[in-house]
Amino acid sequence: MKLFNIVLDSNKSLREKSKSISNEQLSEYKPLGLEMLDYLKMSQDEDIANKYHIQPGIGLAAPQINKNIRLIAIYINDGENSYEYVLANPVIISKSVKLSYLRNGEGCLSVKNNHPGFVYRNYKITVEAYSYLDDKIVTFKAKDLLAIALQHEIDHLDGILYYDHIDKKEPFKIIESAIAM
Ligand code: NI
Repeated sequence: MKLFNIVLDSNKSLREKSKSISNEQLSEYKPLGLEMLDYLKMSQDEDIANKYHIQPGIGLAAPQINKNIRLIAIYINDGENSYEYVLANPVIISKSVKLSYLRNGEGCLSVKNNHPGFVYRNYKITVEAYSYLDDKIVTFKAKDLLAIALQHEIDHLDGILYYDHIDKKEPFKIIESAIAM
């Protein structure tokens, strides 16, 4: 298992726009992408997380390990459903008008300080990306926590952090039509 050094939000690289991975570079970054997914899986194993002092995470973007390339990994396992993705150049090609948010707010492996408030995201999205688990370009729909995680990670590729979305005057503003999770 690769123990990544996670870059914190005080680091400028987390505020940069990351570069697309070219067709020629796709195979070069596959091992890294798979290691990122593995890291997330390990981080959700309590014994391993405690042993190595790592925080549990459901998503990781390459800028968080100091590589400004458009590469993300997601691992969500809530007991009922399990989702895993390793994606190069992910793009959101459509999104619902309906919004959703996490009642307890979002978190990030790169953010140590507390930033209370709601982060509104699109409830449903369609993503196009090169999938390293399928070795081809895929288009798929996502909703609920998966959609939130994907939007959070894709934001990292554009130098955006979750707390940028929190309303500064009214961090716990309720949007009635939004789905709370
Ligand atoms: Ni994050």
